[in-house]
Amino acid sequence: MRVVIQTGTKRTLLDEVLSSRGEGVLRMSDDDSRLKQEFEKLLKQPDAPQQIDQWMWSELSSGSHSRKHPWNLAVYCSLAEDALHGLVPRSRTVVIRDVDVTQRSIDFYTDIRSEKVVSLRDRAASQRICWTFYRHETRLQLRLDARAELLPLDSVNEQWHRTPQHSRGAYASVDPPGTTLTQSSTHQHKASVSIDPLSVSSASLGDVAIGRAALQIEKAKDNFCVIRTIVDSVEMVHLAPDGNRRVHFVYDAEGRCDEVSWLVP
Ligand SMILES: Cc1cc2nc3c(=O)[nH]c(=O)nc-3n(C[C@H](O)[C@H](O)[C@H](O)COP(=O)(O)O)c2cc1C
Repeated sequence: MRVVIQTGTKRTLLDEVLSSRGEGVLRMSDDDSRLKQEFEKLLKQPDAPQQIDQWMWSELSSGSHSRKHPWNLAVYCSLAEDALHGLVPRSRTVVIRDVDVTQRSIDFYTDIRSEKVVSLRDRAASQRICWTFYRHETRLQLRLDARAELLPLDSVNEQWHRTPQHSRGAYASVDPPGTTLTQSSTHQHKASVSIDPLSVSSASLGDVAIGRAALQIEKAKDNFCVIRTIVDSVEMVHLAPDGNRRVHFVYDAEGRCDEVSWLVP
């Protein structure tokens, strides 16, 4: 299958022709396109790894501020205790909320009753986790090794206040996330579960649910928490026709990059 990369969103005659011939058209957003171009430019610099490291963290920070940014979402993988198999890896997509470039930390918000938090709390104060950022359009993958910790609940008021009213509903379910819904509980859950964590639209709060959800939303703060991850190494892989590349960064306890190496892809 031939893949054609285009920027923009308008469907063109070329798209029609290609799709009628069964050939794929890969749409690249302006943000993906910029990311790809900047990365390729940096590769040509004499001190490429150092520049890539700075650029990558600056982009990760931008990702925490813009929903459109290719690195606004990432896959968070942690270990969890499974009744059948013992310790198992579990991954899920979350929204990147705060990035501290100096500290090399990445925060996300979640429900304190969710499995990822329960397993974090069960397994001592901190836990090894792994982040994956990937965009098909850029063929750029980041894998970040980190230590995760739950921020003290009395220290996250600022983050809660920054969370729009309609997003707060994501923390308002009466039963913990992952609880099996029964017929009688479905109506009640509609109030909170129907709210997208990305808070695309406050209209997702159904009229019927508003009264009950408002009451639950008062309690939602008790379920809100922030997981901070302190990154100690990053591996970046780029697939390209002129050669794949893999670069590894290691950070010291102060967050300084003290080791960088190209690896066999
Ligand atoms: C696009 C997208 C964004 C999401 N963002 C978050 C988020 O920021 N925080 C969160 O806890 N869950 C988020 N989720 C839901 C998680 O992927 C996951 O299903 C949920 O947190 C339960 O995970 P756990 O049971 O493994 O703890 C998101 C899901 C999607 C599809």
